[in-house]
Amino acid sequence: MSAAAMVANGSARKRIVVLISGSGTNMVNIAEHCRLVNPGQGIHADVVAVVANRADAKGLAKAAAMGIHTAALAHTDFTSREDYDAALVELVSSYQPDLIVLAGFMRVLTPVFVSAFADRIMNIHPSLLPKYKGMHTHQRALDAGDTEHGVSVHFVTEELDGGPVILQSKIPIFPEDTAEDLQERVHEQEYRIYPLVIRWFCADRLRLTEQGAELDGELLGEHGYAADD
Ligand code: GAR
Repeated sequence: MSAAAMVANGSARKRIVVLISGSGTNMVNIAEHCRLVNPGQGIHADVVAVVANRADAKGLAKAAAMGIHTAALAHTDFTSREDYDAALVELVSSYQPDLIVLAGFMRVLTPVFVSAFADRIMNIHPSLLPKYKGMHTHQRALDAGDTEHGVSVHFVTEELDGGPVILQSKIPIFPEDTAEDLQERVHEQEYRIYPLVIRWFCADRLRLTEQGAELDGELLGEHGYAADD
């Protein structure tokens, strides 16, 4: 291991593979945090590859511009989800990841993928889970007349958007808000909380156990760390 791969406490930099489907703004934010030298803010890891399920995902060009290795594996080239996920396992494994970060990866993953990387896949979902699993979360929150909304970072298990929550951030909903307003407000929170959670994982403070997500040895509750309800 090179000296650059070590820090004062001697732990190696982790290897992160980010999976995306679209614009990849969370991916860019995470990769930038990996390049920060301030130990209070930076992530002790490298984004070693960005993989998309569509060749036209805008985030691929952004990753390439940052000098990050990119790959596209089109789900349309496969007849079943399991076949696609088996190919994705092979591709992602080739980068030897310590952590797989889903950042706007709009695919339901089968047990083929989840079991291959058990305990080291995380996702960001634009709702206060367990509310609004699945798609169109902002519109659903508006339609329900909710006065607050938000975003959750969680470990990925075989249940769709159902793995243990690690951290959530809430936003207010105002009467005149549109789904686009909520998306923008949620994105701002995503840029704060996803790097923080990834930093915890890469510092070996956070892990998935059989009981749930554990931070510094403490089991987190249904809404993750520091939930106020
Ligand atoms: C993010 O808002 C993320 O929460 C959402 O996709 C967006 C990706 O934005 N993910 C999901 O809806 C997953 N179910 P980005 O490509 O600009 O990072």
